[in-house]
This record gives sequence, C-alpha cells and structure tokens, in this order.
Amino acid sequence: MCGIVGYIGNKKASPILINGLLRLEYRGYDSAGIATMEDDKIVVMKNKGRVSSLYELEGIDDLKSTMGIAHTRWATHGKPSKENSHPHMDNSNSFAVVHNGIIENYHELKNMLKNEGYKFLSDTDTEVIPNLIHYYYNKDKTDDNNKLLRAVKNACNDLKGSYAIEILSIHNKDKMIVVRKDSPLVIGKGYKENYIASDIPAILSYTKDFYLLDDNEIVELTRDEVKFYNQDLKEIKKQVTSIDWGTASAEKDGYEDFMLKEIFEQPRAIRETVGAKLDNGCIEIEGLDFTKEYLQSVNKIYLVACGTAMHAGLVAKTVFEKLCKIPVEVDIASEFRYRDPLIDEKTLTIYISQSGETADTIAALKLAKSKGAKTLAISNVIGSSITREADYSIYTHAGPEIAVASTKAYTSQVVLLNILGMYFAEKLEIIDKDLMKKLKADILILPSKIEEVLKNTDPICDFAKKVYKEKDMFFLGRGTDYAVSLEGSLKLKEISYIHSESYASGELKHGPIALIENGVTVIATMTNPDLVEKSISNVQEVVTRGAKVLAITSEDIKNDGLNQVIKIPKTNEFISPILSVIPMQLFAYYISKEKGLDVDKPRNLAKSVTVE
Ligand code: M6R
Repeated sequence: MCGIVGYIGNKKASPILINGLLRLEYRGYDSAGIATMEDDKIVVMKNKGRVSSLYELEGIDDLKSTMGIAHTRWATHGKPSKENSHPHMDNSNSFAVVHNGIIENYHELKNMLKNEGYKFLSDTDTEVIPNLIHYYYNKDKTDDNNKLLRAVKNACNDLKGSYAIEILSIHNKDKMIVVRKDSPLVIGKGYKENYIASDIPAILSYTKDFYLLDDNEIVELTRDEVKFYNQDLKEIKKQVTSIDWGTASAEKDGYEDFMLKEIFEQPRAIRETVGAKLDNGCIEIEGLDFTKEYLQSVNKIYLVACGTAMHAGLVAKTVFEKLCKIPVEVDIASEFRYRDPLIDEKTLTIYISQSGETADTIAALKLAKSKGAKTLAISNVIGSSITREADYSIYTHAGPEIAVASTKAYTSQVVLLNILGMYFAEKLEIIDKDLMKKLKADILILPSKIEEVLKNTDPICDFAKKVYKEKDMFFLGRGTDYAVSLEGSLKLKEISYIHSESYASGELKHGPIALIENGVTVIATMTNPDLVEKSISNVQEVVTRGAKVLAITSEDIKNDGLNQVIKIPKTNEFISPILSVIPMQLFAYYISKEKGLDVDKPRNLAKSVTVE
C-alpha cells in the first residue's frame, strides 16, 4: 500500500514528485507529503487528504531543489492526519524518510530510542526509522563517504517487517539512499538524473529504463550514478530492464475514469495477452518448457491468489480439470499460507497476481517452494516480486491497471489461464484435436466479441439508474457462471459500497432464498446451455418472490418471461466469463457514478496490498 516517488537530477524536483504521486494515488490517498533538499536544510511539506491538497500548502511553489522524496499514504499505524503523514524526520532534522510497509517491532524500537532520549511526534511505525538512522549515524565515529550507508544498513538490521524506504540526509546533500525488503521499489534511469518509485507508472513519462530492486538491496543515487549494495555493503551490478508500456497507457485518454478506460481496453488487453501463443501448431508460452513426463507426474494443481485474481482462478479450475484431468484446488493466499496445505514435489502451484506484489500471495509461493512444490507465477508486471521468486513466470499483457477495481487484468488472467490449461492438455496428449482447434478459434475471436458487448452499454446503465439506491443485491450462476458472479459481486461492493452476495444458484433453496422479497435485485448469469434449464428455474423462483432480475445470457439461450436481459455472444463455457463479466463491471461502474462516488479510488482500498 502507499506510494513512493523520488527524484535526483537537474530539474526542479517538486513538480516531478507531485506528478508522480498523482499517478500513484491508487496506492493510497489519505495524506501525502514531500521532502526536498533546499540549500542546507531539508524542507518537509505534507497534508492530510488527496495528493492535490499539497498544492494548497503555502511555500510549495517556492521549493527550488532538484532532489527530493515523496509519499502518498494508506494509513496502517495512526489515523490519517498531517502528523502521521510522511516524510518523517529524526529529532535533529537531519534525516527525512518515507516508508511503505510495516515495521512489526516498532514498539520495541521506539522504547529503545525513547530510553536514549528520542521524542516522537506521530503514531506511525515509520518515525522510528529516521531516528534509528540518526542513532547509528552518531554512534559511528568514522568519517568517510560510506557513513550514511552504514547507518542505514545498521538501522535496517534492526527492522522486522516489510519496507521500501527513501532517505534524504543533510549530511550528504547530493545523494539519496533507498532500500527495500518485501515491498516494491524500482529505480528509473535517466541522463544525469535518476528516479525512484514504488510502481513503474509513476515515472513512466520520464524513463522506460528501470532497475528492479531485490530484497535487502541498498541503493545510493547521485545525479550521475546509481550504486547497488547487498546487505553487507558489497557493491553489486544490476541489469537495466526496459519496459515497453506506452505513457498513454497510464493516462485517462479522454475517459472520465481509469476504470471505464480499462473496461474498454479489454479487447486490446486480450489480444496482447494471447499474442502469438496460438499461431503456429502447438501452443507456445514464453518462459515455459513443461514436458509430458513432468505434467503426468503432477498429482494436483493449486491456484493461489487474492480477490479478483482468485476469482480468475475459480474460472480456470474448470478448464484444468476438464481438459487436463488434474484435480485443482483454488485457494485464497492468506488462508493457504497458514493452513499447512498438503503439497510436495508432485504439486504444481500457480500464483495469480496483477501487481505481482501482493504480500499474501508472495508468502504463499515462498511456503510452497520451501515444501518442494513447483511454482509458476502469472503477473501483469514484468520483474515484479512474485515473478522473481517463482520457478516459472508468465505474463498477462493488460498494460498498467490504475483503477483500484480490477477489470482488464481479470479478463487477461482468465484468458491466459485458459491458454495454460490448453497447453498442458496438448502436452499431455489427452485432448481431442478438433476440440482443441475449436477452443483456439474461440479465443482468437474473443476480442471482437468483447467489442460487441461493449457496444451495448445503455441497458446496463438504465438498469443501474433504477436500482442504485438499494442496500443489498444478489448474484446467481452455475458452473463458470457462478465463478464469474463472485467477481461481479466483488466489483459492486468495491466501488458502489452496496452489500452483495453471490450464490451458486443450486444453493438458493438451502438458505439464501429466505432473503428474497419484493423489489430485491438479482443479477443472474446463464450462459451455459447445459445448465440453463436449471438456472432458469432458479430465476423463476426469485421472480415469483418479487425479485427484479437482470439476466446475462448468451444469444442462443431462450429467456422467456424475463424483462431485463443482456445478451452476450455465444462462446465456450471456459471463456464465457470474459464476456459476461463486462456487463457486471459496467453495472458496478454506473451505480458508482450514479451515487457520485470516486470510481477509481474507492474508500479504504488500495491497488496493491503489499502488507498482510
Ligand atoms: O495485484 P493482485 O492481483 O495480487 O491483487 C489481488 C487483489 O488485491 C485484487 O484483485 C483486489 O481484489 C482488487 N481490488 C479487485 O478489484
């Protein structure tokens, strides 16, 4: 959570820092601040509220410095307030620090520092860091160029938890130090200038060349140079990674909100994710070289993820089980990591994460790895932490997803998981050739079918206008229609703050139907012809009890007796969620707009959940 930006170069730093923070607001948005090196002192400016509130601060336009650090906060320790916002300074005003992550032993460290005479002005865990650096800096009687580095290293040795930290110090007015452990951080390389960010989109308009930091690396930045050190302060070399995301992909591009733009980007995201994988004969996925023998030895697949990414896993379970005949368990990462799952070297574990930085998903991967299981990461961000931990990594190519509510990442994950399932089945030589041909053709034509769905937004908008004041809604479906309903329900909760539940239609009579009464809204998805009769009976049961139903069905399905129907093009059951989720995404979007809410930055949520 929280966003970090830093700059050292020859341009005025404050506009670059604030601009970067504005692009990172999806990470946290309850307070923001910057610290710049002005002549011989560090000037800190911070405010409660959105990043734009920094413009209200007196003196912000007078900052001249060409180096500084910045932060947008998602509160963990201490309520959102000016005092608790970053940057934090040490007692002597010599060190300014911004921090993402959580310092788990901050109580202990705070007490130690208090005993040494340090005073604290905030409720944050972060404030121990600049004071600890000051403590070690003063203790060190050697006076050489590495004194600040050593103080940072010693302070980090005492920290337990996760952190990405930027440090500015009056003792080194032409240098900045950053360090990371279990929290993302990248360095953007420029000409006679260098950038720092927790996420690539923050600085994408300045550079396409990045150094991706690994855990426990300490970096010293000057205008001309970036030096990397390991935990023992031994210098190490790192490669530059070029990122091919266009700048426009991190802009709204004429759309009112990022979420709407990202919904409409889905045809392109799917096209790019599919890429050339299905072009020549057998499926090829860059980064994978699984053999028939290996896949035959796999006794179980785990799909592990959080939130929307986990919902993509629920859709994909059907693909893997039906095509590959391998049992699949879909697990919530935060549960998986603590429930001592039954895994061994015959288990294939697959982790799905848009950001590649979700703390629970990474921890789940590390656990499985320690038990000997093979690990495969699916991420949207090249070089993200999860991809560097996994044995194998493959990518969705959705482009940067800025809105907190995930849309194009989800549909890209579902399509990539489908291709992965087909790739396994092909390797295992257990799939009928004609069926494979048909599945490939269905995927190749999918982007144009998405375009068709996106042409029919008016009825969804009209329905949203009718029901936006409601307090509760229900989503129903069977098979993959149920899996996608869970995602529809999550979208609605996230951005419209309406409580909603998703049920497998067959479960209705086992309890939830007691909640159906006159006027209740139900979104029923029925795209699978094999299950439709049963689903229609369930829908009739709620209609009889007075429910207002919005049905999402495919064009070949009859829907006698239903008033509000959204038709989607026909496709196979494995990928129909990619089409049927779109009306649900739009439904949540229009309701949120109707209620006047901030679609892209829903309350209490952050885009990447980098703490537990
Ligand atoms: O970056 P990840 O895919 O690992 O994120 C997982 C979830 O935090 C994420 O999908 C979350 O549920 C979204 N806000 C959903 O819209």
